[in-house]
Amino acid sequence: MIDKKSPLPLYYQVEEHIKQTIQSEELQPGDALPSERELSENFQISRMTVRQAITNLVNQGFLFREKGRGTFVSNQKFEQNLQGLTSFTEDMKARQLVPGTKLLHFEIFPVEKDIQERLSLGEGELIYKIKRLRLANEEPIALETSYLPVKLIPGLTPDILEKSLYSYIEDELQLKIGHATQTVEAALISDEDSKQLQVKKGVPVLLIQRETFLENGTPLELVRSSYRADKYKFKIDIERK
Ligand code: GLP
Repeated sequence: MIDKKSPLPLYYQVEEHIKQTIQSEELQPGDALPSERELSENFQISRMTVRQAITNLVNQGFLFREKGRGTFVSNQKFEQNLQGLTSFTEDMKARQLVPGTKLLHFEIFPVEKDIQERLSLGEGELIYKIKRLRLANEEPIALETSYLPVKLIPGLTPDILEKSLYSYIEDELQLKIGHATQTVEAALISDEDSKQLQVKKGVPVLLIQRETFLENGTPLELVRSSYRADKYKFKIDIERK
């Protein structure tokens, strides 16, 4: 497993070995890692090297330390590709997780100035304001607040919103979703939202804001989603020009 003649540094080889045992689920979230002493004996390397590998894995989020108790395997994060214009339901299904939704707020009201412009609406036209808690295998993952024009999506009901909004828009209403612009930034969770997401008050979240347009260019939705930073990471493939 550890090849002392390899040009790869020993700490790196230990890191890769531990990562593999996590990825193959030999070690599962919450399991304790063997002690530094045990690892250094098993691998026949110094404790310093083992410590460096563990520190790197803690910094990368694979492991966490608890004072006086030891080092444990973290819940592994979902990796989400940022390239496709996908729905939450599709994202969860793609990783064999069961999507769930709890509707927290559903309201119809005349649009306010700032949103009116962004959704290209006339004065006083009606919009939905929707707040949903999104779950994966019944675990809270994200909180989403969306604004959509009522005239584009008539007949939206709480029932529909407990399932997939995009499949209602595309399959029932036969509208074609075209493109979106999206930003990702760090934000701190509000006290109220921390209860819903079941995280500590004030922790960082990944805030994603999306403006989605139909294929014909009509603005469809404005969405603010707060994703749990301990559960999610975003991936993007980039190419050198
Ligand atoms: C993602 C997007 C939202 C979109 C939602 C639709 O979460 N960030 O902008 O409204 O997917 O998801 P679903 O079709 O599962 O309701």
